[in-house]
Amino acid sequence: MRIAVVGGTGAQGKGLAYRFAAAGHDVVLGSRDAGRAGQTAATVAEHAGTAVRGATNHDAAADADIVVLSVPYDGHAALVGALADVLADRIVVSCVNPLGFDRAGAFALDVPDGSAAEEAARLAPRARLVGAFHTVSAVSLWRDEGPLDHEDVLVCGDEAEANAVVAELATSVTGRPGVQVGPLRQARQLEPLTAVLIAVNKRYKVRSGIRIGGL
Ligand SMILES: NC(=O)c1ccc[n+]([C@@H]2O[C@H](COP(=O)([O-])OP(=O)(O)OC[C@H]3O[C@@H](n4cnc5c(N)ncnc54)[C@H](OP(=O)(O)O)[C@@H]3O)[C@@H](O)[C@H]2O)c1
Repeated sequence: MRIAVVGGTGAQGKGLAYRFAAAGHDVVLGSRDAGRAGQTAATVAEHAGTAVRGATNHDAAADADIVVLSVPYDGHAALVGALADVLADRIVVSCVNPLGFDRAGAFALDVPDGSAAEEAARLAPRARLVGAFHTVSAVSLWRDEGPLDHEDVLVCGDEAEANAVVAELATSVTGRPGVQVGPLRQARQLEPLTAVLIAVNKRYKVRSGIRIGGL
């Protein structure tokens, strides 16, 4: 698979890019600045032990089978709107968590479309939107300790074939397919869930994740 990580210079994008590249995928990191993308790509390539390229967000997405959106919710709408043409007919994975932070910790922001993933689907109506990787932390992704087998990647989307492709991609991270949890609107549950994990991490000084029992 050729995978573009839009916003790939950030912690989450770098971590996902590392896992995908280490699993043998052809990865292009995107940024608003091609030079910055190239620098981060070199760091990821060294960590993964394989080639990783850098490009502008637009050029990275234009060349990919799967585009991962890994930008802050602030600026998400403008970016997706600007990339809408190039996202058409591609599988687009959103891991965007619209969260705010105050003295009491992390909290869910109000999102008019219900979730960032649904916002992206509205702004790029021909993209094949899938929500995934919301609850996997950047720090765990970047760690060089093998698959995150104590976690599941939860996958939601409205198109069965795209969901299955992304569930399989999750094997790069956890060592087994992601768990498919229903339609794209389930992103309304998945995106704020990270606020709970952040509180657990703080309380117990751990790097927590979600694992589904009973499967
Ligand atoms: N960090 C985590 O552990 C984690 C876990 C799960 C999900 N997530 C989600 O993953 C996404 C990325 O997280 P992150 O921690 O990597 O974020 P980040 O470091 O703050 O941002 C990622 C990249 O997005 C680009 N960016 C920043 N502001 C932008 C704007 N207004 N418009 C367009 N691009 C912009 C920047 O790249 P350039 O300046 O190079 O363009 C930046 O390096 C977020 O939505 C977050 O909720 C994060």
